[in-house]
Amino acid sequence: MFSQALIERLSNAHLVTICTGAGVSAESGVATFRAKDGIWSKFKPEELANVDAFLANPQMVWEWYQSRREVILNARPNPGHLAIAELEQLVPRVSVITQNIDGLHTIAGSSEVIELHGNLRRNFCQSCLKHYDDVALLTERQVQQCECGGQIRPDVVWFGELLPVEAIELAERRAFESNIFLVVGTSSVVWPAAGLPLLALEAGAYVVEINPEPTPLTRHVHESIRERSAKAMPELVRSLREKMVEWESL
Ligand code: OAD
Repeated sequence: MFSQALIERLSNAHLVTICTGAGVSAESGVATFRAKDGIWSKFKPEELANVDAFLANPQMVWEWYQSRREVILNARPNPGHLAIAELEQLVPRVSVITQNIDGLHTIAGSSEVIELHGNLRRNFCQSCLKHYDDVALLTERQVQQCECGGQIRPDVVWFGELLPVEAIELAERRAFESNIFLVVGTSSVVWPAAGLPLLALEAGAYVVEINPEPTPLTRHVHESIRERSAKAMPELVRSLREKMVEWESL
């Protein structure tokens, strides 16, 4: 499935960065966005994932996110998440940059997870920005008010909002520093996340895409693996382990 060149480069790499999207969580039962039956085929982002929608109808937007929370709170990391975490045993440094808001990389055990679009397991006040990490809020049916009188909202990035500055700055730094940059389970159409592999390419990283479907990034990468992440990532870890055992026995 993978080239010898990739496995050799991986075994010599100092920093491997893995940039993930909704496809990585698909096999945990969390729907992707742009598939035929994906989230954006049933709902309009401008009516739900946007601050004006929330201010106009906070209860409706809150309820929609609560239904997504129900899915996420019941989801478990799949073999793709687990293999990404396991890679840390084989490579000196691994960084995960994710557009996902489900927290599954952290639950799987990855130590550096850069969340570009926030995390649905947290909330903050739309007015005073106070953070609310109370887990009871994750199943609360009614939208809640902050002590300042503002509305409490999920800590996710909505359309038209800026990404958290520290997250995007760290992600860009990792793209520059990486020897290998893997892009897994994203349609690579949402910016600035879609620009990170291009940055990594410019900086000299070996860039590999893992996705059952081609994307706008495909023609730019060194290798494109048309496979599901829950199959490809464990296979990649297995091949790398084998290579390292082979070297040790020399
Ligand atoms: P998309 O739904 O746009 O793309 C999911 C990608 O995963 C597609 O390219 C699929 O081919 C691929 N895929 C599906 N199943 C897979 C599997 N088992 N293994 C590997 N790949 C698989 O989701 P994202 O690219 O994550 O933003 O979307 C980016 C952003 O758009 C999201 O973070 C969200 C959305 O609007 C915000 O909400 C801010």
